[in-house]
Amino acid sequence: MQKCRSCDAELEPFMSFGKQPIANGFLAPAEFAGEYFFEMRVASCPRCSLFQLIDQPEAERMFHGNYAFFSGTSSAMKTHFAGYAELVKTAYLAGEKDPFVVEIGSNDGIMLINFAEAGIRHLGIEPSANVAEVARGRGINTASKFFNRETAAEVVAANGKADAFMAANVMCHIPSLHSVIEGIGVLLKDKGVALFEEPYLGDVLAKTSYDQIYDEHVFLFSLTSVQHAFARHGFELIDALPQGTHGGSMRYVLARKGARPVGPNVTRLLQAEQVAGFAKPGTYLGFKSACERSRSDLVGLLRDLKAKGKRVVGYAATSKSTTVLNYCGIGPDLLEFISDTTPIKQGKFSPGMHVPVRSHAEFAAKYPDYALLFGWNHAKEILAKEEAYSKAGGKWIHFVPKVEIR
Ligand code: SAH
Ligand code: TMP
Ligand code: ZN
Repeated sequence: MQKCRSCDAELEPFMSFGKQPIANGFLAPAEFAGEYFFEMRVASCPRCSLFQLIDQPEAERMFHGNYAFFSGTSSAMKTHFAGYAELVKTAYLAGEKDPFVVEIGSNDGIMLINFAEAGIRHLGIEPSANVAEVARGRGINTASKFFNRETAAEVVAANGKADAFMAANVMCHIPSLHSVIEGIGVLLKDKGVALFEEPYLGDVLAKTSYDQIYDEHVFLFSLTSVQHAFARHGFELIDALPQGTHGGSMRYVLARKGARPVGPNVTRLLQAEQVAGFAKPGTYLGFKSACERSRSDLVGLLRDLKAKGKRVVGYAATSKSTTVLNYCGIGPDLLEFISDTTPIKQGKFSPGMHVPVRSHAEFAAKYPDYALLFGWNHAKEILAKEEAYSKAGGKWIHFVPKVEIR
């Protein structure tokens, strides 16, 4: 029996998304036979409400020296992280003499550039060597390491304690949650703050955006589960700020208990989670039914379009799309190909269901009748960019929050 990775309570999976491959494991036909699959079951902890995968593939299968994700490729995210950095500077560093900040999962330095350029002492902890090298090239101090208690002690020995610990879209990747929180405890000064933002459980439940669940995301956090996990280490939430990024995220701000005032958002959002039933099994059974309905609506629609002889193409081969394709059993019979702008994905096939991935030029050369919007979290940007497709009569298939043609 799998135990909760935060509080050790026994977990009972409430649903399975079936056999799933590595979400970012785009592959060539020669690799089809040896492809890795695991059963993707999920649970909500009955004691601490932490939403988690029952099994997660080993880290080496997902993250390697050739990590394909570069944060800085999105200009909207650059602006987002400039705002995040500004908040840290004004709310938590103002008045500090020679402040020091640490970010884990700092990638190519998209956030830390805002500290480096302001002459603020900083350190990025980024294990993926290739992206860390890009950050160093931009003058951002970066150590190629995994963050945990030991790394934190090394950082303190070399630099002294930190005023702020920061993270984005990485805490939900690391299964050893308590080792990370212990590291935060070692790293921070008495009045230091820890900030991190991750896809929010509340948005996933409200929008049936089950595609946020894939191998890399071992956790979907909420205020309830974060408060519970950090309390064991003497920390408490002092603020929580909803974000629009990645289809709905939450930025958590924590400090040592009693060290800083607790803002009104904390109580308000914790209460909202209670009302929404994050701790109740019924909530997850409702989510399971909603996922099943979404699947039958989507497959029904695609079969119907196929029967009518329509051409349907996927738009953006996101990591999230792997869950949708494999859970729904959508293969090349229903989807001609997936258009994606990432060169290393083009010419390969989608994990598990093996739908061909082609360049955007192929999409533009011969518009399909329908485009299935896997990059729904970038809808605004994509729909604006593809005005010509819509003008030519092309239709979009959305599946979040519900399956519909727009
Ligand atoms: N913060 C960036 C990047 C998120 S991707 C953004 O929001 O765009 C997650 C990053 O975390 C990857 O670059 C990965 O190499 C890194 N990572 C994974 N495990 C880690 C760990 N244990 N400690 C620090 N970084 C880690
Ligand atoms: P991710 O959501 O897993 O980070 O992946 C985003 C993918 O979407 C990435 O492969 C690039 C692709 N994409 C497009 O193909 N066209 C677009 O306009 C956008 C915004 C993303
Ligand atoms: Zn638990």
